[in-house]
Amino acid sequence: MAALSNVKADGSLRREADNDDMMKVLKGNMGWHCDSTYMPVQAKGAVFSAEIVPSVGGRTGFADMRAAYDALDDGLKAQIEGLSAHHSLHYSQSKLGHQATKADGEYSGYGFHDGPVPLRPLVKTHPETGRKSLLIGRHAHNIPGLDKAQSERLLQELVDFACQPPRIYHHDWTAGDAVVWDNRCLLHQATPWDMTQPRVMWHSRIAGDPVSEAALAH
Ligand SMILES: [Fe+2]
Repeated sequence: MAALSNVKADGSLRREADNDDMMKVLKGNMGWHCDSTYMPVQAKGAVFSAEIVPSVGGRTGFADMRAAYDALDDGLKAQIEGLSAHHSLHYSQSKLGHQATKADGEYSGYGFHDGPVPLRPLVKTHPETGRKSLLIGRHAHNIPGLDKAQSERLLQELVDFACQPPRIYHHDWTAGDAVVWDNRCLLHQATPWDMTQPRVMWHSRIAGDPVSEAALAH
């Protein structure tokens, strides 16, 4: 169980302006993403629970990638069918200026996988329901067969299209809530809150089945 919190060990609040590594992790989580796709086996699901919540903001969004896939036009479905993308936390966090180092402050360093970068299909078939869904989000990049700019444009277009009503839900937290989700067909995101108020959340990941959640290459 990992804390996602703006409260430091000594009880003081992390200052947004300091922009330390943990703040970069909190900010990074505000981009739509799927958990652990940058590891050789992605998480199957997650449990997120609220201990202390701010009075305004700090909702968590979920987007249904099955509905998003179903809503794509046939041309786009055909275009992405055989494509895959690399997934890396180094890539997504570098956009916020977060470079993993050995002395990584209070952040545990989880996810800064240094082996070969996992490659995952853009269209994932759910192992239990057989339904197709989009496997995209902020960790995805460098689609083999496309140049960097084309790849970035396509992935951004897909996220912009996918994470829109009626396919999204934002949960407004009450202390004591726990939300469990299926990480094999949903994206999620954090949203901003007034960081002069404390927010303490606990995140546990449910291990994925290597048969269906292993990367194509890793
Ligand atoms: Fe997450």
